[in-house]
Amino acid sequence: MPIRPAVESDLPQLVSALAPDPGRAQLANRFAEQRVGIRSLLVMELDGKVVGTVSVSPGAEHDGTTRRLFALDVGSKYRRRGFGALLIAEVERIVAKDGHSVVRLEVSVDNHAAISLYEKFGYEKIGLPRKLVWSRGVDGHPSEDVVEISHLLRKVLTGSL
Ligand SMILES: CC(C)(COP(=O)(O)OP(=O)(O)OC[C@H]1O[C@@H](n2cnc3c(N)ncnc32)[C@H](O)[C@@H]1OP(=O)(O)O)[C@@H](O)C(=O)NCCC(=O)NCCS
Repeated sequence: MPIRPAVESDLPQLVSALAPDPGRAQLANRFAEQRVGIRSLLVMELDGKVVGTVSVSPGAEHDGTTRRLFALDVGSKYRRRGFGALLIAEVERIVAKDGHSVVRLEVSVDNHAAISLYEKFGYEKIGLPRKLVWSRGVDGHPSEDVVEISHLLRKVLTGSL
């Protein structure tokens, strides 16, 4: 299943696989953030169609080893076929290839599907849930602030130590 860096021309296919949640504005914002170096955006293709995406921070944090996995989305028609797992595995492969060894992520406390997926992959909860505030692009409207109570999860990539 090819997973590759996203290019701007993937936007319409991402919208058709994922909208309305995330919607076009939110997805377009991911490309804008990739352009300014805030994220590396990956897409997964199935039979030439984009079916999912994940983002990884482009470089390590201050500790020199931790990268962030975020914005994991698989189109609703394509779920429970192992694609989310493949996207996580690809992020981990990239992180290890870059010589980094820790992946961290945040997940809303009520997102049981994602928590179950991450825990299956060996991610562990760190500390107590915390409040996260982020800005979400909304189609046809100004962006809105989203407040989420989230777990912080972390995994040490043993193969890369
Ligand atoms: C979370 C998400 C990415 C999972 O993608 P997916 O392709 O369906 O996941 P996979 O098929 O790789 O699932 C692998 C394992 O994760 C767990 N899992 C995935 N979805 C689950 C669900 N809805 N309920 C319970 N467990 C689930 C299962 O253990 C599953 O293995 P199984 O199918 O053999 O039981 C997808 O549901 C999604 O895009 N959700 C909306 C966006 C989102 O919440 N992203 C995460 C933000 S932190």
